[in-house]
Amino acid sequence: MEVFRQIFVCTTPGKGRCGAKGGSELIDKFREEVSRLGLSPSLVLRNACTRRHEEGPVVFVFPDDVWYTSVALDDVPHIVERHLACWTVVET
Ligand code: FES
Repeated sequence: MEVFRQIFVCTTPGKGRCGAKGGSELIDKFREEVSRLGLSPSLVLRNACTRRHEEGPVVFVFPDDVWYTSVALDDVPHIVERHLACWTVVET
């Protein structure tokens, strides 16, 4: 059974916002990693500000209802592989 998942990456621009903390680079990296697993990069979407940018950049995985904060580029392969392939949560 295929389970539909989406990864939302906050890329909101502005001082102190996720976009200024690497959110834009993160969304590119997430799309690259999803593609590497043979999945559509359209599973990765831009997310608007959810008022958690002090912990940003922020990433949300639907429908798992899992939030990742202070996500770095190096975290991306682990998050993608564990969520989309192994279905477990990664500590960041
Ligand atoms: S800018 Fe990302 S949570 Fe506010």
